[in-house]
Amino acid sequence: MPSSRKSVSLGAERAKRGNAGKASEDESLAPGFPAIRMRRNRRAGWSRRLVAENILTCEDLIWPIFVIDGENKRTSVESMPGVERMSVDLAVVAAKEAVELNIPAIAVFPYTDPALRDESGSEAFNPENLVCQAVRAIKAEVPDLGIICDVALDPYTSHGHDGLLSGDTIDNDRTLESLVRQSLVQVEAGADILAPSDMMDGRVGAIRTALESAGHKDAQIMSYAAKYASAFYGPFRDATGSAGALKGDKRTYQMNPANSDEALREVEMDIAEGADMIMVKPGLPYLDIIARVKTTFGIPTFAYQVSGEYAMLMAAAGNGWLDGEKVMLESLIAFKRAGADGILTYFAPRVARRLGEGR
Ligand code: PBG
Repeated sequence: MPSSRKSVSLGAERAKRGNAGKASEDESLAPGFPAIRMRRNRRAGWSRRLVAENILTCEDLIWPIFVIDGENKRTSVESMPGVERMSVDLAVVAAKEAVELNIPAIAVFPYTDPALRDESGSEAFNPENLVCQAVRAIKAEVPDLGIICDVALDPYTSHGHDGLLSGDTIDNDRTLESLVRQSLVQVEAGADILAPSDMMDGRVGAIRTALESAGHKDAQIMSYAAKYASAFYGPFRDATGSAGALKGDKRTYQMNPANSDEALREVEMDIAEGADMIMVKPGLPYLDIIARVKTTFGIPTFAYQVSGEYAMLMAAAGNGWLDGEKVMLESLIAFKRAGADGILTYFAPRVARRLGEGR
């Protein structure tokens, strides 16, 4: 079309002159316009859907759940409206719901009775602990649902740290032995994916070696490779009962939020040690890390939209300051755009229900 060709060539000519000359009437149009109008593709709903670069599906979701002791018992987590700790029988019901909603996997976290916590977190490798009970019960009734178990000692230690204390410091190498024992009881209970979240050096390699020699060669590892020392985990620590227990902070093992190259080194090492998938955590404030990890390594990359992110959105929605449904969907598509293959999110059942209804 002559008019559009004219405007394209005008644009090109203008660019050659470095936009320096005084604009004539025609040249007052921006280069490319009106031949190019970005709004055309956005005009109708069907067209916006057609040109969408990313899509959020139920298959992208991992649902973290909290289990408590007892039967037919639910307790709410004050700082996470809509999230409840569930006894094992109700966790099985939730697992069935996950399958119905096409959610591929859940992540199981325990609320541990303070009486069962000790210095060394020994409940972590009790084959009868709450996580193992839940995993066995869910696997027996819902075998096609993926089950992810965190590997870290913090739900079980009296001091709330992810590793063993020697004096004031977290003893990396001694902790590895405990993490290995914890991994083995979880896999033996039926966990499909182990997710080391402790940030000890060498833990992926230690776990992988132990799994191989125990014959669990197909157990997957989703490493919390780039996990930051974040204040956004606060509500989670309420949910697991670690908040009151934690002495100090986790900055000697979790990453400094100022760093990004370091995340790539962490990821590279965990891949070399035998991780099948990588996680970045927290989520929304760290989208740049997800993007770098995904483009650098091309490995399945997951994001954890953590408890504090959920709490912020829910609190604002609860006050009527944000549209909760919309920010939920917008925050989750942002992870896809950044390159995440999936998202751990407390919104999982709600968003899956919503996606099931169509847009
Ligand atoms: C345990 C663990 C934490 C989270 C997942 N696994 C807390 C922490 O490291 O202190 C946080 C999850 C969330 O905030 O939703 N190591």
